[in-house]
Amino acid sequence: MTRTPSLDVHLQPDQLKAALRKDAEAGLTSSPKWLPPKYFYDARGSELYEQITVLPEYYPTRTERELLRRFARDIAAAASPEILVELGSGSSEKTRLLLDAGVAHGSLHTYVPQDVSASALAAAAEQIAAEFPSLAVHGVVSDFSKSLHHLPRGGRRTIAFLGGTIGNMVPGERAEFLSGIADVLEPGEYLLMGAILVTDPSVLVAAYDDAAGVTAQFNLNVLQVLNTQLNADFPVEDFRHVALWDRENAWIEMRLEAARAMSVRIKELDLDIEFSAGEQLRTEISAKFTLDGIVKELADAGFAVERTWTDPDDRFALLAAARE
Ligand code: SAH
Ligand code: AVI
Repeated sequence: MTRTPSLDVHLQPDQLKAALRKDAEAGLTSSPKWLPPKYFYDARGSELYEQITVLPEYYPTRTERELLRRFARDIAAAASPEILVELGSGSSEKTRLLLDAGVAHGSLHTYVPQDVSASALAAAAEQIAAEFPSLAVHGVVSDFSKSLHHLPRGGRRTIAFLGGTIGNMVPGERAEFLSGIADVLEPGEYLLMGAILVTDPSVLVAAYDDAAGVTAQFNLNVLQVLNTQLNADFPVEDFRHVALWDRENAWIEMRLEAARAMSVRIKELDLDIEFSAGEQLRTEISAKFTLDGIVKELADAGFAVERTWTDPDDRFALLAAARE
């Protein structure tokens, strides 16, 4: 019998909006201008992200899926999870492979998808609950960059953090985030992480600047979020999507470039923002890792990496790390 998923809301829409007000004010009055990536993911942004995952140029999702398809059984055997918590779970699409393996292993009884996007989370939780009647499904709406102490306990946990989302944080944020995960886990519990590896820059740039322009729409959608949420008047058609490879920092940077000089009014903040022609606003970094580099970051946070799996082209890594 299907059990109805529960949804635990630790981030109310008004709290998310308050955070957006604060971040937009800080980021848009800085030089250079920036915005945090979590505001991409309103209902439209989450949909566009799903479209990105099946683009021919965007290899990370299918590469990670193939690794999960091949190795989910090994992962379940290594971690023996009773509770699978997934941070930034989105549509939970690839997670099914882990859930299948955890159920077949005989240990898994609960799945806890967590995301800042309430719409994506609620839909995914419903679907997973229908597909996995033996599992309890507890969705959590929260911001994973804040405290993780609200995550459920009550069994041996594995925290999954897939998709390469770790790369959307700058190094200082990553260290704090990984330490925060270590802080809520007991010794012997696991973190399963997906990381996009450094590869040929032309492959990387194409993945963030696809021919069909879906990533451009995803990037531009954040201006629509500001227009809707903060009553701003960004002329979205006068901004251009930019994706570039920063070799020194080993990250892709997404930016939005103003095609002309303009003044943008953000009514809710009582703020006017000036853009010069060609000025760029940074909307996302997507860091790429070496295997040694990410193993060290995990070790610094208190994890022992026990197993790693990479694809034949060395473009993506899955890492199973035990809390020490
Ligand atoms: N794990 C999925 C989705 C990755 S997209 C996959 O591998 O395909 C990144 C996800 O993280 C989105 O669903 C987004 O809503 C979520 N996210 C981004 N920033 C977040 C934050 N600060 N707290 C919680 N979720 C966040
Ligand atoms: C969620 N995250 C890992 C994606 C990435 O590749 O950095 C988000 C994304 N941005 C543009 N395309 C996909």
